[in-house]
Amino acid sequence: MPRRRLIIDCDPGHDDFAAIALAVTSGAFDIEAITAVCGNAPLDRTVANALTIADALGTSIPVYAGAVAPLLHRYEFPAAFHGVTGLDSAGATLPPPRRAVAPGHAALEIAARVNAAPGEITLVVLGPMTNLALALALDPDLASKVRELVFMGGGIVGGNVTARAEFNVWADPEAAAIVLRSGIKATMFGLDVTNRAFIDTDDLARLRAAVPAPNPVADIIQFYTERSGDVAAGRVHGPSLHDTCPVAWLIDPTLFQTESLPVTVETSPGPRYGATDADRRTWAPDHLPRIDVALELDRPRLAARVTDALVEAAKRIANNA
Ligand code: RIB
Ligand code: CA
Repeated sequence: MPRRRLIIDCDPGHDDFAAIALAVTSGAFDIEAITAVCGNAPLDRTVANALTIADALGTSIPVYAGAVAPLLHRYEFPAAFHGVTGLDSAGATLPPPRRAVAPGHAALEIAARVNAAPGEITLVVLGPMTNLALALALDPDLASKVRELVFMGGGIVGGNVTARAEFNVWADPEAAAIVLRSGIKATMFGLDVTNRAFIDTDDLARLRAAVPAPNPVADIIQFYTERSGDVAAGRVHGPSLHDTCPVAWLIDPTLFQTESLPVTVETSPGPRYGATDADRRTWAPDHLPRIDVALELDRPRLAARVTDALVEAAKRIANNA
């Protein structure tokens, strides 16, 4: 069975780190490129973090720099959740990268790689959709040449950065609207499932015990756990690793239940800016492009698989140290 060919577009980002670790350690994918975008932190930080993560996991995956800013929206970076580096740690950190960023803009690289292998490349988008929107603007036919898009973003149930909008879509709603209107085959993992994609106390303990100190993977996840509002409120005992959901679904689709729905993005200024709306009426008009939206998940099995990946990452990093 040939391994699925991926491009991972991300803004690492603690949960982006967990998603990349899951993809790399699963052995299920040929990860052809990682493209970075501004999102959780400025572009220079998300590029550095992507290089750090790719190297620490023992890969030679090329990393490309993408958009330095959203298409239109400007906002303060959410340092409260990811720290000023975008990958702050409660203790040990990952070793600095040995490689430099690859030459060329991420949007051009996405377009070139998809055009070189029509129908073969799966795009995994884990941050604001700016790079993919730019690639679609450069090459509108790209939507039909991508094998499929799986992305963490949006939420029918509501938001996190505002009452109605989830961060990835809110950071660049115009980009998300371009992508969703393109007709690309897409599966959306929004807050409807990712807010429940948390690992628990036992999982954190298993990760901590994976290798003797220093354990940068455990310390990085601990930083993210300590800044989780849901953990602080006592709703859960571990962090929601949002970005792992699209990757986990590619590995094992039985982890989630999806529904085909027309999804639109609010791009008008105001309290709903960046909201994602799904028309769930059975008689919804047929002309709206539909995507598959994940609405249910098997959390214990997902958490076990994600924790296995983080444990394996901790061991690989310890062996490479
Ligand atoms: O809302 C969650 C998303 O915002 C995740 O991708 C996380 O990394 C942040 O970018
Ligand atoms: Ca992210």
